[in-house]
Amino acid sequence: MVKKTVTAASMLLVSVAALAGCSDSDASGDDDKIVMGFAQVGAESGWRTANTESIKESAEEAGFELKFSDAQGKQENQIKAIRSFIQQKVDVIAFSPVVETGWDAVLQEAKRANIPVILTDRAVDSEDTSLYETFLGSDFVLEGEKAGEWLVENAADSDVDGDGDINVVQLEGTTGAAPAIDRAEGFASAIAADPAIEVTASQTGDFTRDGGKQVMESFLNSEDGIDVVFAHNDDMGLGAIEAIEAAGLEPGVDVKIITVDAVHDGMEALAEGKINFIVECNPLLGPQLMELAEQVLDDEEVPERVVTEETTFTQEQAIEVLPDRKY
Ligand code: AHR
Repeated sequence: MVKKTVTAASMLLVSVAALAGCSDSDASGDDDKIVMGFAQVGAESGWRTANTESIKESAEEAGFELKFSDAQGKQENQIKAIRSFIQQKVDVIAFSPVVETGWDAVLQEAKRANIPVILTDRAVDSEDTSLYETFLGSDFVLEGEKAGEWLVENAADSDVDGDGDINVVQLEGTTGAAPAIDRAEGFASAIAADPAIEVTASQTGDFTRDGGKQVMESFLNSEDGIDVVFAHNDDMGLGAIEAIEAAGLEPGVDVKIITVDAVHDGMEALAEGKINFIVECNPLLGPQLMELAEQVLDDEEVPERVVTEETTFTQEQAIEVLPDRKY
């Protein structure tokens, strides 16, 4: 458990300033509103769009003033956005790091400015855990494990060419991003249970549909006997479907496809049998993020790690839940 210690001091300063009738040059014109600076990764996937909507909606519902920045997939843009939030003296900074490493300097600047930081969705790789208050998001290693376990359980059906080996090509997420690193790790550890399953090629598709399509096209040209695609997200899996169909093959039948996310388009493809299995990654982090921010600013104890609850979907389950799916 971590305890927010700096906020009490900053809250006191705000109260003293308010009592004295003077206004500090903080980010908000309205002193009662919590001002959150949020530095988003970009708009690379259906998951990200749903995540951004959830954060914007929840901030409004909670009465926060949200300063939202889209880094367009670039770490340097996120660092600039965080520095600008510090300059504007926001009350709290939240962000989903594009990649895991390289954050210590800017997070130390936020700490020196007494602005608490909350990690959402993705972790940073830093030894100094005092640089952030808490980390809210999925267990990506577990997601990779669930994908691999399904393949182990369905190995016989997944040996599409019947040669006794199950050749898997992997479409990785953004290089250096926590979900790409962790999903690959979880998947590898689960498939180790069956020596017939092997990842024969693995390359980044950057979590985008175009990236997944292009990498799959090149795999189809260079790799023999592909039985299975493991895509680190739905969008890359959907791109792979386009490449497989363009090659005259039937996705879900001639090549099995496993993805992560369970966004609407992915679930539709699963319901149609073009994807075979999806591991859910929940993008609706907004309500929990606002709650955590309030707790941190109220100087309440918050857990170091808040893990999102998630499930998995087969074709039958996708058909059942699709009509009520929110994203
Ligand atoms: O960090 C979450 C991942 O980022 C999602 O699985 C992917 O779709 C997104 O781009």
